[in-house]
Amino acid sequence: MIYFLVQLFLLFGSINCMKQGPSIPFLNLNDGNKLPTMAFGTYLLKGEVARQSIVRAVEAGLRLIDTAAYYENEVDVGAAVAEVIDRKIVTREEIFISTKLWNKYHDREQVVPQLKKSLERLGLDYVDMFLIHTPMAESENGTFLCTDYLETWRGMEDAKKLGLTKSIGVSNFNSRQINRILVYGSIVPAVNQIEGNPTFPNIPLVAYCQQRGIVVMTYSPLGFLVPRGRGRDEQIGPTINNPVLVEIAQKYGKTVIQVVLRYEIDRWTIPISNTRNPKHLEENVNIFDFNLTDTDIERINEFDRKAKVYTLANYRTHLYYGIYTP
Ligand SMILES: NC(=O)c1ccc[n+]([C@@H]2O[C@H](COP(=O)([O-])OP(=O)(O)OC[C@H]3O[C@@H](n4cnc5c(N)ncnc54)[C@H](OP(=O)(O)O)[C@@H]3O)[C@@H](O)[C@H]2O)c1
Repeated sequence: MIYFLVQLFLLFGSINCMKQGPSIPFLNLNDGNKLPTMAFGTYLLKGEVARQSIVRAVEAGLRLIDTAAYYENEVDVGAAVAEVIDRKIVTREEIFISTKLWNKYHDREQVVPQLKKSLERLGLDYVDMFLIHTPMAESENGTFLCTDYLETWRGMEDAKKLGLTKSIGVSNFNSRQINRILVYGSIVPAVNQIEGNPTFPNIPLVAYCQQRGIVVMTYSPLGFLVPRGRGRDEQIGPTINNPVLVEIAQKYGKTVIQVVLRYEIDRWTIPISNTRNPKHLEENVNIFDFNLTDTDIERINEFDRKAKVYTLANYRTHLYYGIYTP
């Protein structure tokens, strides 16, 4: 009888484990908090598709959901988060939400009210991470403003002190811009969220951040391995059939996509991937049972073409445009 009960317990445990996906490790932040080492991105996900995709991602084991006021989907993200908590898949403490302050609200006194609006849309009392989306301020009608992002950073510090966010950070900042925050700010950013993939690994900026204890979250980790619909993908490469990537993937019995996502984790960044497709999701999260070697990472670094998926081209003439400068 006891043997039977033990078997039942073990079986239940393994079914539960399969349902919940892999257990994803954490990275410690410089402010005492932590973040899971892989995130689910929500840009362009809206309504029912957003809800379904996010719930599926949490069921598959992902615990960090990345949104932004700019994505206009915080209500949908909030609904999905409420659902996974109601269904007891996770508690609030087990799920991590990052959102971002948009460029139109860079005055110090706008920051806290904007975060409160995000919280209202999300239906939450706090977020885990609040980021300045870009260093480039603009007016309501889109004309560029020269508001110093140091002023914005002071508003972010206010938000953290009020407990509206556990951690604060930046996105699309280069090392010179972060350095000004380190010199003149009173809180060190916990995160810099930037693009990171084989054609834009941004090695110097990743090193700069990591040497200062700033965790890097990498968006668009699949780079040009997936179609970006701009007709320039083929010239940039590498493709999914690239012999170097295929060779590395075969060595571990993995796919090229899995190797490229693992590349970000093994260089200690947090990839933010995004999929609406359940098969792709399963592929993307199944990367926590192998490690790339330093040699594999160096070989993938060789694909650096300084070619970004997101060029933020509309902002090229902005005083603080600096995403190609490490
Ligand atoms: N801070 C910023 O300025 C900034 C800028 C851009 C993005 N982000 C964040 O980063 C997130 C991710 O960016 P991203 O969408 O460029 O990430 P990504 O994961 O590199 O690319 C997503 C694309 O890859 C496809 N894909 C995903 N898994 C796949 C697989 N296993 N096989 C084949 N195709 C696959 C998806 O299509 P399917 O749906 O068909 O799978 C989708 O078209 C965004 O959602 C957002 O949260 C932040």
